[in-house]
Amino acid sequence: MTESVQAMNTTVRFSLDGKAVAVEVATTERLIDTLRLRLGTAGIRESCGVGACGTCSVLRNGYVVSACLLLTVMLEGDDLVSAEGALGSSTHGAAVVQAFVDHRAYQCSFCTPAMALTAASLTCSEPIENVAHELAGNFCRCGSYPRVYGAVEKICGASRGNDDGVVNGQQPEETVAS
Ligand code: FES
Ligand code: FES
Repeated sequence: MTESVQAMNTTVRFSLDGKAVAVEVATTERLIDTLRLRLGTAGIRESCGVGACGTCSVLRNGYVVSACLLLTVMLEGDDLVSAEGALGSSTHGAAVVQAFVDHRAYQCSFCTPAMALTAASLTCSEPIENVAHELAGNFCRCGSYPRVYGAVEKICGASRGNDDGVVNGQQPEETVAS
């Protein structure tokens, strides 16, 4: 005989962008659904749903994680920061946004909140030898990578005398579709 497994509801408490949150969820509810659909965190977006693309990125206790891979019940007591929180309320966040704007580091912008969140989370304590490696968890289907890399190099001050977003000798303008 097959027994069905029922999802139970439970209350989970965590911090989201510095604010205390208490939310009743089913034990099977994904974090991406809690944040985006129930708490209105629009910068968290679902694309692949299986942890491959990074559009659902959120900071969990300072580390970038994929919200589509986590159950909300796992987040009890954690500190979450969304793209809105990371980019909208600090001087560093404003600098990251400005760098993306200056380098036009987007096209359709679907990936941009998560991409910028990851960029904002970089400590930049050491020169970035391979910017692509730092952003390997974030896919951009529009192929805006050279411009994003230029923005990240600007953000980190790692351009080493190359402050125009020129990456590997390629100007950002060369990669933008009209
Ligand atoms: S939607 Fe979560 S990694 Fe793609
Ligand atoms: S700008 Fe379109 S997916 Fe990245």
